[in-house]
Amino acid sequence: MNIGIDQLHFHIPNYYLDLAVLAEHNGVDLSKYHKGIGQEKMSVASHDEDIVTLAANAAAPLLTDLKQRNSIDTLLFATESGIDQSKAAGLYLHSLLDLPSNCRILEVKQACYSATASLQLACDHIARQPNKKVLVIASDIARYDLGTPAEATQGAGAVALLISANPRLVSIDPISGKYSEDVMDFWRPNYRKTALVDGKYSAQMYLKALKHAWQDYQDQGGHPFNHFSHFCYHLPFSKMGVKAHQQLAKHSQNPINPDQIEDGMRYNRLIGNSYTASLYFALSSLLDHRDDLAKQNIAFFSYGSGCVGEFFSGQVQPNYQQHRHRQSHQHQLTHRQSLDYATYQHYWHNPEPSDGSTIELPQQNHARYRLAKLSQHKRHYQKNP
Ligand code: CAA
Repeated sequence: MNIGIDQLHFHIPNYYLDLAVLAEHNGVDLSKYHKGIGQEKMSVASHDEDIVTLAANAAAPLLTDLKQRNSIDTLLFATESGIDQSKAAGLYLHSLLDLPSNCRILEVKQACYSATASLQLACDHIARQPNKKVLVIASDIARYDLGTPAEATQGAGAVALLISANPRLVSIDPISGKYSEDVMDFWRPNYRKTALVDGKYSAQMYLKALKHAWQDYQDQGGHPFNHFSHFCYHLPFSKMGVKAHQQLAKHSQNPINPDQIEDGMRYNRLIGNSYTASLYFALSSLLDHRDDLAKQNIAFFSYGSGCVGEFFSGQVQPNYQQHRHRQSHQHQLTHRQSLDYATYQHYWHNPEPSDGSTIELPQQNHARYRLAKLSQHKRHYQKNP
């Protein structure tokens, strides 16, 4: 039985910062961003947007069929920018999206890797109960301190994946290769809103995890490098994917072919890092930019600092072209508004009253779901008509 990704839809904020604006403000040569890290723009969340509204807007188009919605018995919400230390963000989705009451819900954390853990757990669950579906959400707002080298690698977005038997987009193979090691390359203590990162070390750890996860994948009986037509990588910035692919091709003694990664990097260059969602933006980019992928084998590498890496694979399904949400994805990308530096900085500083006072949030996000109010330590969401 094939199990995997039946549907995929993403949502991004309506605002972005062109890295030319950041380069000018920070006195950095723009080619460092364009060529050095391979990024052009980054998504910026407004004050009435958070991981819940991004997730709800990503998932809503997958749930229009009532029968399909009622067969979801598990919701796994992967994030590393959580809004609560106790309550799972998925519970807010439960009411916003009218999910069935007999649905288990939990939030999953391991840096940028946790959506992949969720995907694998979802596939295992469907193997036991093939008539059920699992909604996997990857939703993050990536923020680093202003004025640091990491500032150019921020971003935001959510990807919703519906996991089922006989998937219409991509089946996921059971074998995968894993690597874990306790390291401090990127982390965010509870009292901080922004991540701490040892940038160069984190890139080294990414490549180390790739090498070991690939080796484990081979040891588990995985496919050789030339089995795959395309490779999707976790993309904190697109140059990281280029370096990863160069290393993997060299290590497995294969020629480097940039076509194997190029289409998977197009969206991320314009969206920036979306942490847990980044690998699945790469998959979406690949599926949306090519019409000739049916029955092609795709390799994936997921990395979460701290660190866990996983190498796995899947096969694109026949007729996937009819089931992707390309029109919505491209509409969102072409209808965004560019921000000047002052407005970007304003959006960067989220109002978060720690005394429980009430703040009504002005409407900046015009998508279906928005964060309307913070009051008495509670978040109030609103569904736009
Ligand atoms: N023109 C062209 N290229 C230029 C340039 C110019 N004028 N000036 C510099 N460059 C190149 C540099 O040569 C360098 O290229 P190489 O890496 O190929 O040598 C590249 O631009 C970056 O420049 P620096 O080496 O000076 O690096 P930096 O101090 O700007 O920091 C960074 C870059 C480490 C990625 C930083 O942005 C950062 O810390 N980002 C956050 C951490 C991160 O994304 N880590 C990735 C792995 S961890 C992970 O994947 C989990 C996650 O999501 C966070």
